[in-house]
Amino acid sequence: MFIWKSASSAQTREIARRLGEIVSAGTVLALDGELGAGKTVFAQGVALGLGVEEQVTSPSFVLMHIYQGRLLFYHFDFYRLDEEAELDSLGLEEYFDGESVVLVEWAGKFSDALPPTRLEITIVLDETGDEDARLLCVNPRGDLMSVILEEWSRRCCF
Ligand SMILES: Nc1ncnc2c1ncn2[C@@H]1O[C@H](COP(=O)(O)OP(=O)(O)OP(=O)(O)O)[C@@H](O)[C@H]1O
Ligand SMILES: [Mg+2]
Repeated sequence: MFIWKSASSAQTREIARRLGEIVSAGTVLALDGELGAGKTVFAQGVALGLGVEEQVTSPSFVLMHIYQGRLLFYHFDFYRLDEEAELDSLGLEEYFDGESVVLVEWAGKFSDALPPTRLEITIVLDETGDEDARLLCVNPRGDLMSVILEEWSRRCCF
């Protein structure tokens, strides 16, 4: 487990941008954290790092947005998904094509539906700081994700 400290939404976006710059095709980013934790802010940073020019907004009502950067970027939000059947209707597997980057907000709701190799990022309030303080807790699952985490941490020395 690796923990970033973020003091502001700008800093969360910047940390995530540096991840977006290095993620490889097929990377799955599984985000969790309570409402308003900063998952969408994080997704905006990843998109920036991938070179997405479009504005990234929350996909909670439509369940998914697709963006084009140096790789395709699929941005899911499981918040409004309540049943396995709804998940099936998304046809999730076809997005794990090994060529794109997939980010899922509220990933923990259906973590069994995600590939085992993934970077899990849980955003929690940092009780030791002010109201904008967050801890970004990163758990790399799979060897490739450990490599990405190492590279990411080298690029973020705040
Ligand atoms: N350090 C921080 N990192 C990220 N966001 C922060 C931080 N400090 C304050 N914020 C604010 O918290 C809010 C995070 O909103 P965001 O939509 O990203 O949350 P979310 O986790 O996606 O919520 P939801 O579960 O509703 O999708 C924004 O208003 C952002 O400006
Ligand atoms: Mg969100």
